[in-house]
Amino acid sequence: MWLPDKIYGFPDCENQSRALAQAIGANHEIVQTHKFPDGECCVRVSKGALRPAVFRSLYEPNEKLVEIIFASSALRDNGASEVALIAPYLAYMRQDVAFRPGEAISQKVIGEILSKYFDRFLSIDPHLHRTPTLDAVFRGKPSISGTAAAAIAEHIATHIEHSKTIIIGPDIESKPLVKAVADPLGASWLVAAKTRHGDRNVSIKLPDHSDLRGRHMVIVDDVISSGGTIVTLSGLLTKAGAASVSVYTTHALFGEDAHLAMRDAGAQTITSCDSIPHPTNAISLAKSLAESIKLWP
Ligand code: R5P
Repeated sequence: MWLPDKIYGFPDCENQSRALAQAIGANHEIVQTHKFPDGECCVRVSKGALRPAVFRSLYEPNEKLVEIIFASSALRDNGASEVALIAPYLAYMRQDVAFRPGEAISQKVIGEILSKYFDRFLSIDPHLHRTPTLDAVFRGKPSISGTAAAAIAEHIATHIEHSKTIIIGPDIESKPLVKAVADPLGASWLVAAKTRHGDRNVSIKLPDHSDLRGRHMVIVDDVISSGGTIVTLSGLLTKAGAASVSVYTTHALFGEDAHLAMRDAGAQTITSCDSIPHPTNAISLAKSLAESIKLWP
């Protein structure tokens, strides 16, 4: 097992990095950042950590990527033998092929760059649809894909009357997460079939012969971005006679107005984990991350 001796967080995720450091008994420090008048940045870390982990959730990722690379370099220059990256939300994983001719394969590029600067990786519910494992993104370096499933199931168990609950995912890719949430609750689960027509435009078909009348439906998805997927699915479930529709997501990327559009479509409650700051955050990922860290070889 490889345990970091110090977690280096950033001001935008200080509570989350501190909670993880406490959970695993590691030291904690916030990386000092400075932005020059021309927009360039400088980071500063204190000496002394041998096995540090840089902690940063990579939403709105472009500047954050530069800063974490600088932080890793500074840690090595100051004595670290190995540097880990803990990114509860890992950016650029969705573009894993060139969907249209001429597009960059962002997942490949980010994997190549980060694997030059970090020795091991941990993320939660990374979007790896066509890539088998996170190690494959990071050139075989030890990489753990943790999951928020247990934390989400725990929240459902204490907040939702679940005797007649069905957990549902919008597409086949959501099946592992949906099943991992439903199993500990002993709840039924389903996955729908989604076709994407554009950034905000999807069509969804509910499974054949599903009688959802009077059922409490809990939608679970790894990422909510434009909200289009949840809006469409919530509308279908409401139309199918569901008694209630609740929504859970690991990563609340939530484009503008997504929250309101989901509510208008019938989602009564929307709950997210704390990888991306949002008013719907209600589930800490500290425990999921602490458990996942133990899986590093
Ligand atoms: C898709 O594969 C993902 O699991 C999410 O369903 C998707 O990213 C949600 O995107 P949006 O909120 O823009 O529909």
